[in-house]
Amino acid sequence: MKVRVSVHHDFRIAAIDDRIYSAFLEHLGRAVYGGIYEPDHPDADEDGFRPDVIDLVRSLKLPYVRYPGGNFVSNYHWEDGVGPKDQRPVRLDYAWRTRETNQVGIDEFARWCAKADTGMMLAVNLGSRGLDAALACLEYCNHPGGTAWSDLRRAHGRQDPYDVRVWCLGNELDGPWQIGHKTAREYGRLANEVGRAMKSFDKSLDLVACGSSHSGMATYPAWEAEVLDECYDTVDFISLHTYWDNFEGDYLNYVAKSVPLERYIQTVAGTIDYIRAKKRSDHKVYISFDEWNVWYHNRKEDQETWPSWDWPVAPPLLEDVYNFEDVLLIGCVLNAFIRRADVVKIACIAQLVNVIAPIMTEQGGSAWRQTLYWPLYYSSLYGRGDALAVAVDGPTYNTKVAEDVPYLDVSAVRNDENTITFFVVNRHPDEALDLDIGIAGLPPRELTEHTTIANDDLRATNTVSAPDRVSPTKGTGIAVEDGAIRGSVPPRSYHVIRVAT
Ligand code: AHR
Repeated sequence: MKVRVSVHHDFRIAAIDDRIYSAFLEHLGRAVYGGIYEPDHPDADEDGFRPDVIDLVRSLKLPYVRYPGGNFVSNYHWEDGVGPKDQRPVRLDYAWRTRETNQVGIDEFARWCAKADTGMMLAVNLGSRGLDAALACLEYCNHPGGTAWSDLRRAHGRQDPYDVRVWCLGNELDGPWQIGHKTAREYGRLANEVGRAMKSFDKSLDLVACGSSHSGMATYPAWEAEVLDECYDTVDFISLHTYWDNFEGDYLNYVAKSVPLERYIQTVAGTIDYIRAKKRSDHKVYISFDEWNVWYHNRKEDQETWPSWDWPVAPPLLEDVYNFEDVLLIGCVLNAFIRRADVVKIACIAQLVNVIAPIMTEQGGSAWRQTLYWPLYYSSLYGRGDALAVAVDGPTYNTKVAEDVPYLDVSAVRNDENTITFFVVNRHPDEALDLDIGIAGLPPRELTEHTTIANDDLRATNTVSAPDRVSPTKGTGIAVEDGAIRGSVPPRSYHVIRVAT
């Protein structure tokens, strides 16, 4: 089967915002306690952090990590997590029915971020709390000193403000499961009031209003329109969240799920434009896709335990073990974010460690990369620069979630004047695709890298005893010839193809 891909060296969609390679870490299960923080681990550093996890996170080059939730934030008292550790209260977390020891809070998280070479993207609690708590948290984090909250931070050992740039105004408040669930009007007004006050402290902050929890919500997309109607000129982003599953065990349908994702992005982008026009506003709101991932491998088992358990501390929860099939879907999802670089300016894989995560740890033992660590790693490494418009002429298929799904999914990034990276997924279940990629304007001179992830077994996983079963290898079968990139990509495979132009 032949596929012709055409790009032009100068036909740019938009500059890619590096922040689309961010992640999310919640006080949930073993994400924080036993994930990034394990003071009893034999290799723990002076702050109780796991250096092996820090190394794996650092390699992902994450611009931001969103924290501390998620559902957790909607009943969180941030003040409980600062100051002397032995005086911090233990609280019930009503979101996940666990006990929160507060041994990690904003100051510890900030220290961890510095070690992991990433930045803090913080969420404030607009579920059980509101304006006052949000302003206190902002002042604690970002005011230099000379006020009660900023001096408290200094008393806790941090002299300079953290200067947190991106703030989420609550989490998933359209969801009936959320502590402090609200209607769109209630939430939109609250987001506007909190946002206005935060912007009066610093008008250059980036504020994220909650969009729908996912596109299947009964209130979607009216929620987005109503919320933005209340707070459009105050906020800078509206959030999107999606978790994919393959409960049906239908491979071709599963790997096509990035197509409805593009529709979701398009619908919210259209809603933003509609409200902008309605308000005659010059202000531009963008998309923060601040929770996305595959989530289903352990979902049924989890659902049977946590809603009725007896408030344990940091129990294993949402510990999905990912497989090779997930690599293919995640490759397509990252391609979609690159192709919509014009509107998606922040995206956070949910989550980062142990909880539906690219990184897993064993208590007292090792840390390893799950399968889907790899497409994130390569997109973050090479997916920076300008997204190029890509035209694909090749075979397609119809499936439950979408029609005309191309077997070849591809994005193209111009990293600099002389380097272009293609991220390619062959969705076909059993046929190789013969590629012919033309770059008009400045044709390719030489292939500089071809890396692939492939496995005969769609269910292959990485585990503590076989951590590298699904991992990248050097690709073969692709070459630059007669000013084009040509060659064959095997069925069910992921590729990074880099050329010098
Ligand atoms: O990431 C797990 C949960 O999914 C988050 O806490 C919540 O925001 C979403 O529903």
